[in-house]
Amino acid sequence: MRTKIVAGNWKMNKNAEQTEDLINELIDKLPTDTDVKVVIAPTFVNLASAVDHTEFTKIRVAAQNMHQAEGGAFTGEISADMLKSIGVNTVILGHSERRAYFHETDALIANKVETALKHEMTIIFCFGEELKDRSTNSHFNIVEGQLRDGIFNLPESAWSNIILAYEPVWAIGTGETASPEQAQEMHEFIRETVRKQYGSQVADDVSILYGGSVKPDNAKEIFSKPDVDGGLIGGAALNANDFVGIVNAM
Ligand code: 13P
Repeated sequence: MRTKIVAGNWKMNKNAEQTEDLINELIDKLPTDTDVKVVIAPTFVNLASAVDHTEFTKIRVAAQNMHQAEGGAFTGEISADMLKSIGVNTVILGHSERRAYFHETDALIANKVETALKHEMTIIFCFGEELKDRSTNSHFNIVEGQLRDGIFNLPESAWSNIILAYEPVWAIGTGETASPEQAQEMHEFIRETVRKQYGSQVADDVSILYGGSVKPDNAKEIFSKPDVDGGLIGGAALNANDFVGIVNAM
């Protein structure tokens, strides 16, 4: 049985007070009897307070990034140990904004994955094609390459700590969503690619999230697809009613 997950990537939004307010609203409004795992990823400086505020709730807190080194002279960076020490056990890695704006390569992301696993963290591994890849019909190749170069070096045992998040870059923050059929087609391809590499147990157990302009009004149809196990939500995660609406659509 795969875990259903709805995760909110808050990106560089919400100051300390706004983070607390949004969490309080989520605690009030999220259903308590759901089997959906709810994750929020506020910005680094608000992680510790987010962990405190969600302690007796079902909300789990993730970081949006981390550095690959254990520590040392890396001004401005955050290590896995620092995250673990405040109770953050999940990290988003490979987000397309990290790849595009901060020049993170597949090799660097693979390095971060390795470090996170050493610290027994759960990884939300993001990947997805750009518009030019889709228009040249190379989206499957690109996605396969990102999986191969980012996580296919891992031993099978590591996969219980891996959540996949397919986020087509052209659908992120654009209001443009992959159609439910496009999402299903790619998610099925991803699962089959994992199956070829690792076998059926890993492929059937890994949760594959869709990300890219998911909103309360399109979530249900996307989530109804058999290989879509949840969502990684950007803009709509910043509003409690929208985010709760998406969780309820799962
Ligand atoms: P949007 O939901 O704003 O398109 O962002 C998706 C995303 O990048 C989540 O990581």
